[in-house]
Amino acid sequence: MVHPQNNSKSTPCPDHGETEMNIEAAHLICYSPTRTTFNTLKAIADGMKLPATRSLDLTLPEQASNEEIAILSDVAIIGVPVYAGRIAPVAATRLKSIKGHNTPAVIVVVYGNRHYDNALAELKQLAEESDFVVVAAAALIGEHSYSSPDKPVAAGRPDDEDKRAASAFGSKVLAKLKAATDLSSLPVLGLPGSLPEGPYIGPANVAPETDPELCTLCGQCAESCPTGAITISETQTTDASLCTFCCACLKTCPEGAIQIGFPKILEKVDLLYTNCQTRREPEIFL
Ligand SMILES: Cc1cc2nc3c(=O)[nH]c(=O)nc-3n(C[C@H](O)[C@H](O)[C@H](O)COP(=O)(O)O)c2cc1C
Repeated sequence: MVHPQNNSKSTPCPDHGETEMNIEAAHLICYSPTRTTFNTLKAIADGMKLPATRSLDLTLPEQASNEEIAILSDVAIIGVPVYAGRIAPVAATRLKSIKGHNTPAVIVVVYGNRHYDNALAELKQLAEESDFVVVAAAALIGEHSYSSPDKPVAAGRPDDEDKRAASAFGSKVLAKLKAATDLSSLPVLGLPGSLPEGPYIGPANVAPETDPELCTLCGQCAESCPTGAITISETQTTDASLCTFCCACLKTCPEGAIQIGFPKILEKVDLLYTNCQTRREPEIFL
């Protein structure tokens, strides 16, 4: 348990005799199996140019603390990937273990060039339930987890242009916070989408397929798996009941031994490849 500090502290502003918010550090909180969300958050933090940036990465099982942590930093940047138009379900569960303390937060959803649907609205609610004050939001684009050299979807994103946009967003968020006298003076942020109803419906009880001829049992897939679904012994096996089809294993494998395989997901890949080629651009809400 980390003890909280008062994040709404303010210091006298010499020019105006008022107070300005004292922002010293950014705290990156993310879940990011194929790392596009992490890289996007880093670009936002770069744009803030704060003296300190701390990282709280919830991607791997051993990093997912069940403790309640009151964030000590001055601004949290919370980022998750979009799965089926919502927050990736493992991210939603793990984020609940992180508590703010009236901490200003930027919320970010990263999606694979189809759409983010209700994910921003869902993330806002989750952040507010954990005592974060959402001061800005963004929906940004990352290479689709199902993208491959044969059927690329948003391949290589976030690219330089995306990172420049993310950094510019970070710089604007900081300016907004510094201009505010306190968090309660900021208007409520309106965001698109509505709160999703019912449980998340995504791939269940299926897992990518591994070609035993190509697999060298190096174990990199197991190390990258956010749910610890992969075991390496005489063969590599994946527990489909734990697999979320995040594709971290597939993108990490140095031998290209892991493929999507499952017909229903291959159909989705075709649809994405056919329908989601028009470049979508970052959306920011300040
Ligand atoms: C199961 C699953 C569902 C997804 N659903 C969507 C979606 O609804 N819309 C979209 O644009 N991208 C979707 N994506 C793509 C991811 O949002 C995108 O690739 C994101 O950049 C992955 O983030 P990461 O690199 O941090 O893991 C989905 C990916 C997976 C694995």
